[in-house]
Amino acid sequence: MDPNRFVEGDNLDVLPTLAAGSFDVIYIDPPYNTGNEFAYADDFRDGRRRHTKHLAWVSMMRPRLLEARRVLSSRGAIFVSIDDNEAAHLRLLLDEVFGESNFIAQIVVNLNPKGRQLGGGFATSHEYLLVYARSARHCALDAATTETVNQRDFPLTAADGRAFRHLPLRNTNKKFNPVSARTLHFPVWGEPTTGRVSSEPFEGGHEIWPVFGDGTPAVWRWSRPKIDAQPDDLVCRSVNGRLGPRIDVFQRDWLHEGRRKKLSTIWTAEEIGSTDTAVAELKVILAHVFESPKPTGLVRRILTTMPADSEVLDFFAGSGTTGHAVALQNLADGGTRRCLSINWAEPTRPGSNAALAGYRTVADITRARLAAVAAALH
Ligand SMILES: C[S@@+](CC[C@H](N)C(=O)[O-])C[C@H]1O[C@@H](n2cnc3c(N)ncnc32)[C@H](O)[C@@H]1O
Repeated sequence: MDPNRFVEGDNLDVLPTLAAGSFDVIYIDPPYNTGNEFAYADDFRDGRRRHTKHLAWVSMMRPRLLEARRVLSSRGAIFVSIDDNEAAHLRLLLDEVFGESNFIAQIVVNLNPKGRQLGGGFATSHEYLLVYARSARHCALDAATTETVNQRDFPLTAADGRAFRHLPLRNTNKKFNPVSARTLHFPVWGEPTTGRVSSEPFEGGHEIWPVFGDGTPAVWRWSRPKIDAQPDDLVCRSVNGRLGPRIDVFQRDWLHEGRRKKLSTIWTAEEIGSTDTAVAELKVILAHVFESPKPTGLVRRILTTMPADSEVLDFFAGSGTTGHAVALQNLADGGTRRCLSINWAEPTRPGSNAALAGYRTVADITRARLAAVAAALH
């Protein structure tokens, strides 16, 4: 079966036909409320009209997000793209529908690195990705990846050629102190010329207690048995602290094969692509027939934070970026994700590239891209 399915229709009609709990990842990029499509033709003063416009957008989204919640599995998460027009309203609406305790992140996505030069104020160069779990406790999201581990963070090299960095063995988090973590407050012995560290006194070894920068008592991050088991991963050094030179203990933190790092909440265009690269991607597989597609890199990064056998849903599919990204990511990591895309038969603008290329509706574009992806990749 083609892992990329498409249904044409108003998502509010299609979503209720889908089984409860049947999707693990929902990505949507709803209309941003930039134009007047959500404003009522009325003669309210400006403030009232703006208020009505937001209300109309929220009323459009609420029943669709309630359906989204219903079709999410207990391990699932929803990712929603949004810009400044509705970011605040959407955040509150998602809190209402999914519960504030299921908020995972509000990610800044730098899709327009040059920034919008039109209009006053700043050259806006980012939008947002709001992430909520169906249930934060059961959510399968894992934001650690090998992709963003930076060799430059590991500037030291051991005799055997392995790269590493020094991390203080003492716990720098003030929440952990001799009162809250009593068993981690004990002396170790170290010698800075050889670097030797031991939990027992030795000839020439200095007794070292964990202290904060201001000299107040702290605790170690490692227990005594762990220190005894991994003495070669520790090193004693003389350092210049706030209160002058002192002897301290450091962990050698190795850059090993498969090392992972948590993704930050700022995603740059270099990492995931920009709106320009998204247009170029669409041009390669189809033609320049959609105004603001998302880069497949954005959706692929989302997919890597969730299980590789996820059922994926995009019910504002547009040009079909999510289906394309699912096919690319499966190819890259051997995943078995399947994707359902939904878009209604919104007529293309007369005279637009899409209309001139013979696409009568956006749904025609979605279908055409997914067919091109299937022909090229499956
Ligand atoms: C911002 S675009 C999505 C773009 C997409 N992420 C991409 O990369 O091409 C929003 C899409 O939602 C579709 N849409 C809006 N309201 C809809 C509805 N009620 N049901 C289904 N599709 C809808 C529009 O036709 C449009 O294609």
